[in-house]
Amino acid sequence: MHKAVIGLQWGDEGKGKIVDYLSEDFDLVARYQGGNNAGHTVIVENTTYKLNLIPSGVIRGKPCFLGQGVVLDPEHFLNEYDQICQKISNPKIYLSSNISLILKYHKHLDKINESLLTGENKIGTTAKGIGPAYQDKVGRKSIKLYDLKNLSYVEEKLKIIKKFYDPTLIHFGEEPINIKECIDFLRTFTSKIGNLIIDNSLIKNEFSLKSILFEGAQGALLDLDHGSYPYVTSSNTVSSNIVIGSGLQLDYKTIGIFKAYATRVGNGPFPTELFDSIGDYIADKGVEIGTVTKRKRRCGWLDLVSLKYSCQINRVSELCITKVDVLNDLKEIKVCKSYQLKKYEDINFSDSNYLNTIQLLEDDYDIFPSWGDISEFKSYNELPDNLKNYITFIENYLEVPVTIVSLGPERNQTLLK
Ligand code: IMP
Ligand code: MG
Repeated sequence: MHKAVIGLQWGDEGKGKIVDYLSEDFDLVARYQGGNNAGHTVIVENTTYKLNLIPSGVIRGKPCFLGQGVVLDPEHFLNEYDQICQKISNPKIYLSSNISLILKYHKHLDKINESLLTGENKIGTTAKGIGPAYQDKVGRKSIKLYDLKNLSYVEEKLKIIKKFYDPTLIHFGEEPINIKECIDFLRTFTSKIGNLIIDNSLIKNEFSLKSILFEGAQGALLDLDHGSYPYVTSSNTVSSNIVIGSGLQLDYKTIGIFKAYATRVGNGPFPTELFDSIGDYIADKGVEIGTVTKRKRRCGWLDLVSLKYSCQINRVSELCITKVDVLNDLKEIKVCKSYQLKKYEDINFSDSNYLNTIQLLEDDYDIFPSWGDISEFKSYNELPDNLKNYITFIENYLEVPVTIVSLGPERNQTLLK
């Protein structure tokens, strides 16, 4: 059975590590949405791999596929691909020819969009051009990978795009679109990695009888439709986008992944956010710094209300809890089980105006004692009762079993339950 690893919070749940761990049993690892706004750090035997676009399965030498729902910055891809080639011999990477490109002007437009917003209205994007690239896809202006076969056609397309965007770019002090530079770059790009571009039909044929692991990017609460709009990313991060974003019509089981606490980068509602020294402690101990933007992540207690919603919208059938070691030494650990005593069924998670009014009450939390050092444990049964009780409470609330517990960043700090 194919499987999907989906983040249930606001991203950075540790998907990269778990995809690396699980990928051993799969023939292909695939991305279906997002771009290089994602950032995965995977540590294997003292080597750190930082990945933004290429699925973490590449570390085990697994074939990897970027599906048509991904937006691809060719400049970034060349760098990431080069770096991977230095660490992994002969990586097998396929890029769907239907992928839409992120070009320089998308990054400039992202910057302009964000600069027009002030204070709390700022989204806090990664400024990688993700939103504008998806806007162009929906607006039928994308340059697709398959277009690169005919650069004079791309040139004609760029002339129209230039007419559309140059007035805005110039007005806001950004460089106008340089068609020659763009075409020259795309020619170099194609000459270097053109052989990785593949039609969806070929991927379908080659992997029709094989098992695929899907790697989600960002998290369910940043989903364009289900997340706290407008503080969301510009793609559908939830598992139901897999079929469209990969172009592969197949069934899969979803493993939902979440941290033992919560973090968020960028703006937007975060009901369990901590503004005190405990929040700072979690940020320090968990090294909660954005992989892409190097921003300090906001930290808070585990929020079961939003997690239950995420389980539902992703049809999650099993769970993976990560970074439980970060909470080892806290005196007490809080878990949010309602918002102002309301259950998740009564919450509109896409309405940021409403979510921002929520001030949690003491009765919205349950409190758990901590579990101390767990770094040496090698099996689930050995774990301290305090940690097992914490996990059981989560399972009962979410009505989904936890099957994987991650105790630290290394591949071998992963326990199956
Ligand atoms: P964008 O995806 O760059 O447009 O950013 C939109 C929002 O999503 C911002 O709050 C970002 O911080 C957040 N975001 C985008 N990608 C990630 C990610 O991979 N992890 C965590 N947050 C992300
Ligand atoms: Mg990340």
